[in-house]
Amino acid sequence: MSNFGLYEDRVRNFEWSVAEKELEYTDGNVLNIGWYCSDRICLKGKADKTALFYEGFGGIKKQYSFNDIRLAGNTIGNFLRNIGIKNEDRVCLFLDRIPELYFSFLGVLKIGAIVQPLFSAFGDESLFVRLENAQTKAIITQRKHLSKVRKVLERLPNLEFIVIVDHNKTKKLESRELPFSLQESKPVENFEIYPTRAESPSVLHYTSGTTGQPKGVKHVHYSIISQYLTAKWVLDLQEDDIYWCTADPGWVTGTSYGIIGPWSLGITQCVLDAGFSAQAWYKFIEDYRITMWYSAPTAIRSLMKAGEDIVSDFDLSSLRHLASVGEPLNSEAVIWSQKMFGKLFHDTFWQTETGSIMITNFPGMKVKPGSMGKSFPGITGVVLDAKKYEPITEPGQVGLIAFKPGWPAMMRSYWNNEEKYREKFINGWYLTGDRSSIDSEGYFWFVGRDDDVINTGGHLVSPFEVESALLEHPAVGESAVVAKPDEINMEVVKAFITLKPGFNPGPDLELEIMNFIRKKLSPIAMPQSIEYMEKLPKTRSGKIMRRLLHAKEWGEDIGDISTLEND
Ligand code: PRX
Repeated sequence: MSNFGLYEDRVRNFEWSVAEKELEYTDGNVLNIGWYCSDRICLKGKADKTALFYEGFGGIKKQYSFNDIRLAGNTIGNFLRNIGIKNEDRVCLFLDRIPELYFSFLGVLKIGAIVQPLFSAFGDESLFVRLENAQTKAIITQRKHLSKVRKVLERLPNLEFIVIVDHNKTKKLESRELPFSLQESKPVENFEIYPTRAESPSVLHYTSGTTGQPKGVKHVHYSIISQYLTAKWVLDLQEDDIYWCTADPGWVTGTSYGIIGPWSLGITQCVLDAGFSAQAWYKFIEDYRITMWYSAPTAIRSLMKAGEDIVSDFDLSSLRHLASVGEPLNSEAVIWSQKMFGKLFHDTFWQTETGSIMITNFPGMKVKPGSMGKSFPGITGVVLDAKKYEPITEPGQVGLIAFKPGWPAMMRSYWNNEEKYREKFINGWYLTGDRSSIDSEGYFWFVGRDDDVINTGGHLVSPFEVESALLEHPAVGESAVVAKPDEINMEVVKAFITLKPGFNPGPDLELEIMNFIRKKLSPIAMPQSIEYMEKLPKTRSGKIMRRLLHAKEWGEDIGDISTLEND
């Protein structure tokens, strides 16, 4: 029996209080996500139900009940509180997808501190700018990532504690480092959870824009209202589901729907921390009898590339519902999934800033392959005219995707950046920075971003960040970074550079520069291709014309270049 109901009915009778009632939350009371995702589920009689099936590198398998994750969250919370972490202090999680990552998320929230998850493949510079901006007090990490933390430590006076979850006792601890072992700690049965309220800050996710450093998107505990309801209605999570969200909690999908959504509903979920291969993914679905699968277009395209034959080697008949997020889901992928799994991938659109799904192919609704679907009930989504910032009423016209503010999971600010936050609003609308059209039936058809941010494999990369990092390489004189089309990742990072005198262009230098960025920023931000240029195209005022380079890569009309610098 499905629990989403008819889309039209849901829209007509919608109130967020539906979720408040189901979560037994009343306005003004204590509201703590850590408690809702573990203690409450145990109190509902599901203490022994499996919360997490975990599979890591080398085939390591683990299984945890809701009581296990409740205790683990308490134990980590207790440790952090004892070393002096207080409510609203920022605690960064710089961990691979190991169980401690998920439990620390709950533990940090349980003591009222703010959890700052960061993708563990980030290099030292990416790590530094985010820790510095958030004035992070503690970082929880693994031995394998310590060298990156140690490299930037001196520049981070606010970072008081480096908690290592897999410390090897034969190794020496350095300044500010503390070992913590979940296995060796006495489980904390009774724990005083910090009485956070609806508007208490909860999660701080960093996201990249076109200019400037990444921004910290601040969420509050009340976000659970949106995440719970969208996980229930859009992902259609039901009591006996075995759910798999393929996203890493370093990104918002991995927390909103890889932790909060499913666990607030008391759903069993699976985590696979073993990189991508079609074989491994299909086997994982078969082994755990996964019923609900939330993934991303790049992964789907990679599976398509792996071919049809391999699909028949596995029993994937457990799959009941599929959804996707992060980048445009092309109609071919939707049609392919219907053919392969007998189920359509349901596209969902949202952002780090929105905290929860905003536009969606609601289950049961007619799916138009290639469309993102319609606004979630209770969400007013429009496209705005780019000049007047007024809603476009004519079907099919492209405009800026915008939402009427006020849904529970919406960000409350950008950390220490009120100005950038305010820029996101105009005429009473929240601007997403994306372009789309809406057809006569209310379906959104994604067109593209309204800025230069590169979306590679569902991850946003700021051209500014890569350009700045490139300039730190001794050979690079100037740099311009744009998106380049890619069959699998849709877009990849491409860099145009000029060299300083004395350096010779060539494949060795190209590799060296790529590696430099991979280490400094991340494998995602690493340019997949580098083109040497004598000079970069600039406006008369000296600004590099990324637009021109972008158009060249995409084989598009170059447009008006009257401001181009003349020789
Ligand atoms: O450009 C849109 C794209 O991803 C951006 C948000 O990225 P991020 O904040 O990292 O969050 C990603 C996961 C929630 C959007 O501004 N995007 C997201 N979903 C879609 C999409 N583009 C096209 N179709 C989608 N379904």
